[in-house]
Amino acid sequence: MDDQLVQPKVLLRRLIFVAIATVLAVAAIAIAVRAYQMSDPYIQDVLAVEGDPVRGQAIFETNCAGCHGKAGLGQVGPSLNHVAKRKSDYNLIHQVISGQTPPMPKFQPKPEDMADLLQYLKKL
Ligand code: HEC
Repeated sequence: MDDQLVQPKVLLRRLIFVAIATVLAVAAIAIAVRAYQMSDPYIQDVLAVEGDPVRGQAIFETNCAGCHGKAGLGQVGPSLNHVAKRKSDYNLIHQVISGQTPPMPKFQPKPEDMADLLQYLKKL
């Protein structure tokens, strides 16, 4: 009798423990990945500069608008409308400098230019 009453409680406690441990492990991994991403010197240089979105727009129109459209609304490349809601600063910078998604080329802007571009991307 007693056994049947106790077992579900023990099981529930174990499930809760496993759930909490999983959440903590995922959070720890996310923090570690973020710390690793942010340790990149180029990323640090870019984020140390207060970017100017007006300069960023000029850089965008020269280098990016051919594919992403004049206001980033999309042509060959996808629309960048609200892209900063989908991608972190790190992922936006990485997208520009990595060349991992052809046909988008790999860009190597100076950190100041990348900072300006980043501020412009955040306004789209
Ligand atoms: C030759 C065309 C081309 C040029 C030039 C180009 N892109 Fe792209 N871009 C693409 C394509 C295609 C994708 C989609 C890649 C994929 O994820 O498959 C993309 C994706 C992106 C994304 C991710 C969009 C999302 O929704 O996740 C960002 C941000 C971006 N580009 C920014 C830029 C910036 C900033 C520049 C200029 C420095 C630039 N691109 C120049 C073609 C281009």
